[in-house]
Amino acid sequence: MTSTLEQLKTRFDKALVAAFGEELAGADPMLVPASNPKFGDYQSNAAMSLAKRLKQKPRAIAEQIVQSLDVADFCMPPEVAGPGFINFTLLPTYLEKLLAAIQGDDRLGIEPTKNPERIAIDFSGPNIAKEMHVGHLRSTIIGDCIARILEFRGHDVLRLNHVGDWGTQFGMLIAYLREAYPEALTTADALDLGDLVQFYKKAKKRFDEDGDFKERSRQEVVQLQAGAEDSRRAWQLLCEQSRREFQVIYYLLDIEITERGESFYNPFLPAVVEDLAKLGLLEEDGGAGCVFLEGFTNKAGEPQPLIVQKSNGGYNYATTDLAALRYRIGSEEAQRIIYITDIGQSSHFAQVFQVARRAGWITEDVDTIHVPFGLVLGSGGTKLKTREGDTVRLRDLLDEAIARARSDLEARLEEEKRQETEEFIANVAKRVGLSAVKYADLSQNRTSNYVFSYDKMLALQGNTAPYMLYAYVRVQGISRKGEIDFDKLGADATIVLKEETEVALAKHILQLSDAIAAVEEELLPNRLCQYLFELSQKFNQFYDRCPVLQAEEPERTSRLVLCHLAARTLKLGLSLLGISVLERM
Ligand code: ARG
Repeated sequence: MTSTLEQLKTRFDKALVAAFGEELAGADPMLVPASNPKFGDYQSNAAMSLAKRLKQKPRAIAEQIVQSLDVADFCMPPEVAGPGFINFTLLPTYLEKLLAAIQGDDRLGIEPTKNPERIAIDFSGPNIAKEMHVGHLRSTIIGDCIARILEFRGHDVLRLNHVGDWGTQFGMLIAYLREAYPEALTTADALDLGDLVQFYKKAKKRFDEDGDFKERSRQEVVQLQAGAEDSRRAWQLLCEQSRREFQVIYYLLDIEITERGESFYNPFLPAVVEDLAKLGLLEEDGGAGCVFLEGFTNKAGEPQPLIVQKSNGGYNYATTDLAALRYRIGSEEAQRIIYITDIGQSSHFAQVFQVARRAGWITEDVDTIHVPFGLVLGSGGTKLKTREGDTVRLRDLLDEAIARARSDLEARLEEEKRQETEEFIANVAKRVGLSAVKYADLSQNRTSNYVFSYDKMLALQGNTAPYMLYAYVRVQGISRKGEIDFDKLGADATIVLKEETEVALAKHILQLSDAIAAVEEELLPNRLCQYLFELSQKFNQFYDRCPVLQAEEPERTSRLVLCHLAARTLKLGLSLLGISVLERM
């Protein structure tokens, strides 16, 4: 209801001028959504802050403002409360009009932005030949959600996967590949290397134990960097194998992302260092090329360096990120670049951004934003691990969520004596399980750590995906039971709001745009989750108090339309979280 607030501000400004003269034009009306629905929908705290300036008591000021306020077309008469708050309650007829206006709109009244931007979102970022872990899962889920919201608002979003596909570890991996799978390099078919993590461990063991192997690994790095054909082929094979594994996860989670790994920026690395030198920013420190940072000091209070070229001449993670930044701004023309990684990389990004800014690569009109998130913890409050103490494989984690959703569902079907096909059961279990994992992640304030709990995320009650999916299913149940085709109710079917729970639900439906705007601004998906949770609650309260199919006309049609709008709002909101609804569950 952003526009309502705008409208209220305009009227408030007029009232201020009418009551106290021109000099108050443009004074802050201090209008905010009411802290408690008891006080109405919006409140103004302006009278208190104007007391000094006007040399009057806040309450007296509030009374005068109210007398000059003309809001009768959409609000009940404003009330002065406490020391001088002014409370506004919207008229049900006004809400009815707003609902009527969005009824026939697929976007439910959410307008596309007036300033579409080109935005690069760097998320997921797993590493080749290493396990994609829960940190990558968080980045993937949060990144996808932010991308969906910005896309929905009409921005031009580049979804980029900064895969860790380059580095000295490839020397070791290739040397091991030649040794253990020589046929891999000559056969046409991509081979199945099996578990790449095991492969990595074995390669590392050889590397640590055998001096010859170590030397061969070093040679491999040199050859790979020089572009030797069969080294590149071996590297390709390794990447291909990892990619297949990542793809399974992306497919399950319905994630679209373009791979643009670290190797992509190889050709641009030397220029990063050369240009920093030309700009006079590059210094030598113990043989390494670096930029000394402002505001980052070591324990002795000396400025800390950001190394961009190692003493052996090689480049690192920071060099690659600098090259990527330049590419994204220069070639991709991104106006905003959003990086989604764990909080542990905050200083890395702060340092990279600082150097790029000092070099003039990040210009005034470009925004670079690091969006950090906390850890995923196990039940003991420590890092999530398997019972054996290993890192949890994402594939296993998702499969487990689906399996548990399935056994919950089977128990419920038995209890309700329902017969369903295997296809139905498998589909519901999969959707509920995966939605639960996504939602559990998104509903936390991303900056905090959270405890991963299958039981909690799969619960039918509380701030969970199943609770919300169920609210949606409830509405579809009404349509089945009453044999009502919601789409045929017509965009002009009228809504009449009488009952308290009806009004509360209607108001909440109309706040979707505020929730989306909040996520867009703060990049906190939990704002939308909270909104949808409250929407489901308000729908359930309405449904418990107000008969729908049993109601008399015109309430019956009005309530059906309201139900349908609530369901559409849920569906749209959930889709922006990357969650699709079910018709039955
Ligand atoms: N591969 C990195 C990791 O696993 C994440 C990449 C994040 N993106 C970036 N541009 N540095 O931690």
